[in-house]
Amino acid sequence: MRAVAIIPAAGRGERMRSDRPKVLTPIRGRPLLAWTLEPILGIDAFLEVFIAYPPGEEHVIGQVIGQDFPDELRVRLVHGGQTRQESVANCLARVPADIDLVAIHDGARPLLTKQLLLNVLECANETGAAIAAVPCKDSIKICNEEGTVTATLDREKLKLVQTPQCFRRELIVAAHEKAERDGYLGTDDSVLVERMGATVHVVMGSYENIKVTTPGDIILCEEVLRRRRL
Ligand code: CTP
Ligand code: MG
Repeated sequence: MRAVAIIPAAGRGERMRSDRPKVLTPIRGRPLLAWTLEPILGIDAFLEVFIAYPPGEEHVIGQVIGQDFPDELRVRLVHGGQTRQESVANCLARVPADIDLVAIHDGARPLLTKQLLLNVLECANETGAAIAAVPCKDSIKICNEEGTVTATLDREKLKLVQTPQCFRRELIVAAHEKAERDGYLGTDDSVLVERMGATVHVVMGSYENIKVTTPGDIILCEEVLRRRRL
């Protein structure tokens, strides 16, 4: 299995309300991005790891990697795009044609474990497309602009989708190309694969595998990492 990882990390982190990029937020004395990279770089099957960086931050992202992973030779820094989808596409353009599998994981999800990543990767190796997701705990309702409920969705069928999302290289490349041709902008990568008519398999994710979005999420990360004794 010849695999690479792609880490979209080029967001501005507006909901964090910080003037620095979200992936540089310190957690237990290390930048958020270093925690995200730890389980990914722990997998030898990844021949290269592409990180989309926020415009203007290439130098500081390079410093983080040099400091936390000084012997690491597989990291490639790629200019981020206007949207997450564009950031992933910029990285995909750099993936060599002899690669079989591509793993995509949000830079903003620092509580990923190596085991979860391996589970999703293995499922994609067998099936072509796999994503991590967890059952929805709350009820989800569709509401209108007046703030009243118009429908309640069947919770049994609802999943909260996370990353990692792993795909055969040819499938995810074709899916991104089609999305660009159609002018379609999705909120994750698997929806682009669904639009190709391909089947996406769901692997049990983890409720701890949160996407750091608002300042309170940092406190949660600190506590989970403390419990993991990291
Ligand atoms: N991302 C990216 N390129 C963009 C926008 C987002 O690579 N143009 C990445 C983020 O860095 C993050 C992931 O996509 O790792 C998920 O995005 P999100 O959580 O929305 O992060 P931000 O866009 O940075 O946050 P916000 O929406 O609050 O500005
Ligand atoms: Mg965003």
